[in-house]
Order: sequence, then structure tokens, then C-alpha cells
Amino acid sequence: MVLGWDQSAEAWLTVMGSTGDFSRFGVLDAPMLKRVVSSGAQTVLDVGCGEGRFCRIMSEHVPLVTGLDPTRKLLDQARLLGGATYVEGHAEALPFDDGSFHCVVSYLSLIDIPDAKAALGEMSRVLKPGGRLLIANLASWNTASQTRDGGWDRLDDGAVRITVDRYLEEHAFPAEWDGISIENWHRPLSFYMQALLGLGLELRFFDEPAAVDPAHPYGSKMNKAPYLIMMEWQKPQPEETA
Ligand SMILES: C[S@@+](CC[C@H](N)C(=O)[O-])C[C@H]1O[C@@H](n2cnc3c(N)ncnc32)[C@H](O)[C@@H]1O
Repeated sequence: MVLGWDQSAEAWLTVMGSTGDFSRFGVLDAPMLKRVVSSGAQTVLDVGCGEGRFCRIMSEHVPLVTGLDPTRKLLDQARLLGGATYVEGHAEALPFDDGSFHCVVSYLSLIDIPDAKAALGEMSRVLKPGGRLLIANLASWNTASQTRDGGWDRLDDGAVRITVDRYLEEHAFPAEWDGISIENWHRPLSFYMQALLGLGLELRFFDEPAAVDPAHPYGSKMNKAPYLIMMEWQKPQPEETA
């Protein structure tokens, strides 16, 4: 039985420290920030902002950053360190008006959100026409491999392989490391693509970012297998009426 985010918050703060873990400082931070900055967004909402680390990074470039998260202890830390306005809430029912933001960011939060379809609908709703939805997520191949031993199997010859299972089935699985004990969600890539296409959003950018330093022990492991994805979707402008 997983403990959940409230009881994992202290361990999360320890694991993240001030730099975040390798997936963040070693892979995602730089390309995510580049997309936010190049969009020219003046207002950004970070859904599932946790302790606000990426909000603080964005706030050096964006005038108005808002972070939203349901976990009170993470929000307490975010508010202590500043950089943004922090709001308690769930992605599935965002407490903002339609068209409030130029850019909405979901940075490794979709895997934690039970109703991702509702959450994506809400993220699209609060975007201004022409605004961008920027997503970083664990690759679906990766979340389908979490069923045993983190998905890595060591073979007799010492080689490591990932075993993928139940790929097409949406399912929750326990994610437990360094005192963190939470539920994550696996969904096939088609789930996310179809949900986003169904909202009428247009894909502008897609990447499977590599580790900045491939010689780093985590970097070499990550670059062996599908690990992280990034995508940016644009909300179209309403049709001009004649
Ligand atoms: C893996 S952490 C990512 C935090 C931060 N974005 C980062 O990358 O460091 C996932 C976050 O999602 C939040 N979360 C869990 N359920 C959520 C929901 N229904 N709506 C929004 N955020 C949620 C958790 O509280 C946690 O802060």
C-alpha cells in the first residue's frame, strides 16, 4: 500500500534538494526552459508544481508565474522559497477562468494525476487562444516497465534490459524510492496523443531529450532506453468569421 503524496512530501524535498534529480537538472530543465522562453509567454501556469523549483527557474524569465499543486507540505516549501503565486488545487478542476494563461506547463506531473483526460481538458481550457501547453512526462515505454525491479533486469551476461508489460492498458502502479511512496499512472502514448488531438490542440514540438552529459552514470543509463518525452501543443485561434 503506497503512502501517497502527503506522507511522501518530506522525502521528496530531500531527494529533490535545490537542483532536482538527474532527470531534471541533467535532462529536462534546459530544453523545457528554452521552450517557455521562446514562446514569449508573459503568464505561465505550472500544474503539479511540487515545491516550485521549476516555477522559480521560469520566474527569472517570465513576469507572472503561477504554480498549482494539491500537496500542502510541498506548497509550504514553494511559498517559503517564492518565485511565483502558489495555489492549492487539483489539475482535474483548475480554479482559473478560461483563457487565463499564455503557457501551461506540466513537468513530470501527468504520471501522478489520476484523471489525465480531465486534467488535459482543464489545461487546454485555461490557455489563451494561441497559447502553448508544454508537457514533460515519463515515456510510456518506461512507465509500462515498472512492474518489477524498476523495470531493469540483469541478464546472466551482466547486460541490463527493460521488460515492458501491459503497455496498452492504462493502470496505476506503486512507485517507491528513497522514502517516497506514491502511485503513478501508466498510459500508452496513444492515450495522451488522442486526448490532446481530441481537444483540438496542434502539435508544435516533440522530443525525447537526451542527458546533457551522456558520460554521467545516470545519463548513460537513460540514453539506453526510452525515458522522457517532451511535447508542446498550441491552442488554435478561433476561426475568423467572414
Ligand atoms: C513527480 S512530482 C513533480 C513536481 C514538479 N513538477 C517537478 O517536476 O519537480 C508530481 C506532482 O504532482 C502533484 N499531483 C498529484 N496529484 C495531482 C493532481 N491531481 N493534480 C495536480 N497535481 C497533482 C504532486 O503533489 C506532485 O507535486
